[in-house]
Amino acid sequence: MTTDNGFEDVRQPDAHTLILFGATGDLARRKLFPALLHLDAADMIAPGTRVIAIGRRPFDEESFRTEVEAAIHEFGRSGEIAKDIWTRFLSRIFYCPTDVESIDDFRRMGELANKIEEESGTHNRLFYLAMAPEFFGPVGLRLREAGLTEAGGWRRLVIEKPFGHDHASAQLLNDELCQVFAEEEIFRIDHYLGKEMVQNIEVLRFANSVFEPVWNNRSIANVQITSSETVGVEERAPYYEHAGALRDMVQNHMLQMIMMIAMEPPSRLKTEAIRDEKVKVLRSLRRYTPAEAARHVVRGQYLPGAVDGKSLAGYTNEPRVAADSRTETFIAAELFVDNFRWAGVPFYIRTGKRMALKSTEIVIQFRDMPKHLYFNQNGSLGPNLLVIRVNPVEGMYIQLNAKRPGTDGTVIPVAMEFSQPSDHSPEAYERLFLDAMRGDSTFFTRWDEVSLAWKFVDPIAEAFQHEETSPLNYYRAGSWGPKAADDLIRRAGDQWWPVFGQDTPSVESYLERKLTQAKEMR
Ligand code: BG6
Repeated sequence: MTTDNGFEDVRQPDAHTLILFGATGDLARRKLFPALLHLDAADMIAPGTRVIAIGRRPFDEESFRTEVEAAIHEFGRSGEIAKDIWTRFLSRIFYCPTDVESIDDFRRMGELANKIEEESGTHNRLFYLAMAPEFFGPVGLRLREAGLTEAGGWRRLVIEKPFGHDHASAQLLNDELCQVFAEEEIFRIDHYLGKEMVQNIEVLRFANSVFEPVWNNRSIANVQITSSETVGVEERAPYYEHAGALRDMVQNHMLQMIMMIAMEPPSRLKTEAIRDEKVKVLRSLRRYTPAEAARHVVRGQYLPGAVDGKSLAGYTNEPRVAADSRTETFIAAELFVDNFRWAGVPFYIRTGKRMALKSTEIVIQFRDMPKHLYFNQNGSLGPNLLVIRVNPVEGMYIQLNAKRPGTDGTVIPVAMEFSQPSDHSPEAYERLFLDAMRGDSTFFTRWDEVSLAWKFVDPIAEAFQHEETSPLNYYRAGSWGPKAADDLIRRAGDQWWPVFGQDTPSVESYLERKLTQAKEMR
């Protein structure tokens, strides 16, 4: 829950049985089990909480616990965990081999859950679907058919992305799930909403009086949101080939960041009030027809390239990618939120795989000082920037103009900066798990958000079917994307600001990079 003054209340969640589908999969091994152990170590898991891990493979309890331990050693911060916590944590875990097509297996799962709950004394159930999306709907229905959803306590469903492939399939899935769970019981994950600095946007905006008066089209020239990755498609080609960057990143993470930046102050810091304001942003987001999308959205695909002397394959040379694939691995777009606060302010977004740096960053660019006024005689003053760094560094940076110390009167950009090492913040999955266990859905996606996001994305996906009007642009692996993405933003007289990456040694050098670009822009 979020209390009235906006502070988190750190109550331990109720005891419950977590029924985790996809427990032998990659997400569970890399993120979910490490997150659970860290929550247990922080005393955020009630004594009666048990985990029933569901997978296809034939583990028994002991061998599965050994697997979990190995996965956490590989992917978690297990070094910090005391031995008795490990023992307590592993003893919570049970394993139930299941064929998700078999109702008999669901009945056995129900028997196991009942038996465990007789001893643990809880009847609350948290179902977590970390599995291939085609199973989401059928699993929901089988849970009901086997009586698993009627244990007598609360029940909640946590569901991973993707929630549908387009609006029609998302609607179908939602209809199926709503036969079993109420909207308040469904927690749709967007892990970006669990990130420290994405959650911090709300605090920065609504806990600082300096921002609200300038948070609008009178003061802000444009907003730029970059989420660049250095990895390629890796092992996920069968999914990614059908998703592409549009469905994989834009429909969810990029739109969520736009909503957090653009939303109106909610009437109270309460879940539904916050989500209502976010939804209004999507309602105001200009929806492009396929023809308009061709002008405002650029798509790209990576070619072979090299980073640090290491050569990288092009997308179509990746394992299990079709040699003639037209799937986009990069998107840049110019979006508009057509309301009084934001009319006329472009929201530029770009995201892609195999780019030069791993970085997620939001730049708010303020309007230029009037030309010829005071220190801006030749129009050479750089704009003020507010940069929210989401990843890999967490923090914020404000660029101002100030006098260079000394007597020559030169005006130079200076940085006000705060940053924190990201290893001090809990992982996104720790926060989101904890919220779901507590029943707080503020940082989960409500159905109307999902629905509107798909309605926005569908015509763009449709535009991508037409090569003549929406051509696929190519970029070298390890670069900043295709030239068409630079042309898109340059057309409006703007330019992408360089992002802060892991390899950027200091704020000073960052500033230097930004300055060099600022000069080039003039
Ligand atoms: C996931 C996408 O939702 O987000 C991946 O499916 C992507 O393709 C990932 O790599 C990026 O997340 P993060 O937290 O590393 O920025």
